[in-house]
Amino acid sequence: MKKTVNTFIEAKKTGEKMTMLTAYDYSTARLIEEAGVDSILVGDSLGNVMLGYEDTVSVTMEDMIHHCKAVKRGAPNTLVVCDMPFMSYQTRVYDAVVNAGRLMKEGRANAVKLEGGEAVAPTIKAIVDIGIPVCAHIGLTPQSINMFGGYKVQGKSLEAAKQLIRDAEAVQEAGAFAVVLECVPSELAAFITKRLNITTIGIGAGAECDGQVLVYADMLAMFSDYRPKFVKNFANVGDEMRKGFKGYVDEVKNSSYPAAEHGYTIDSEIMEEIKKSES
Ligand code: KIV
Repeated sequence: MKKTVNTFIEAKKTGEKMTMLTAYDYSTARLIEEAGVDSILVGDSLGNVMLGYEDTVSVTMEDMIHHCKAVKRGAPNTLVVCDMPFMSYQTRVYDAVVNAGRLMKEGRANAVKLEGGEAVAPTIKAIVDIGIPVCAHIGLTPQSINMFGGYKVQGKSLEAAKQLIRDAEAVQEAGAFAVVLECVPSELAAFITKRLNITTIGIGAGAECDGQVLVYADMLAMFSDYRPKFVKNFANVGDEMRKGFKGYVDEVKNSSYPAAEHGYTIDSEIMEEIKKSES
């Protein structure tokens, strides 16, 4: 069954937990769809995980479109949400609408995600008003890392917690179909989840959110530059890859790969003829 924004809207009513994982390429997207994940986020975390930047600030619209197209080809039946990169929506509402349109038209996304609460609510409304579904993202918003001064839990003081609640309500009011809560204390995330009638998707926000999202390379132990507390390794693909790469090096070096069964044959008479005529 095709997963759409309605899957998320229905789930809020039925209480079914929603699953979301990031992906940045065709093959991974195919595997994620085969596993029955409800939504794929083409996150701007591709800056860290795929491109090796120290943060997401340098990710461009072209990067997002390129990867989103590949993901959608691999996951035609999954809700593909594409991140709007830094400076693609913060400048003017007009720029935001144009760039959201590009992610849909060129990237073939099914929805876009952008970071921020009350401050970006008018932008969310403008994008939703032209018919593009928006997933909001509040709490720790990595594009603002230079303001936060590091990857820290958000909403811990009374004022910060109240602001987060205002942010959640503002993005709901603006028409977002879901909101990512990143690095928010579990009890506060549970409170916000109860208060909203849109789906909350937690990452480091406890078990009581309506759904969860993880960066696939984190949960498969493929990315080891840093490891946030909320990450659980559901498999150790990183070790398997290291083992595979090392095995390849060893076998090529000692000539045990490729073996006869990995090669192609030629008629022996033709080969004899070549040897005769070329010697
Ligand atoms: O870019 C990303 O992967 C994200 C998730 C961490 C929610 O925004």
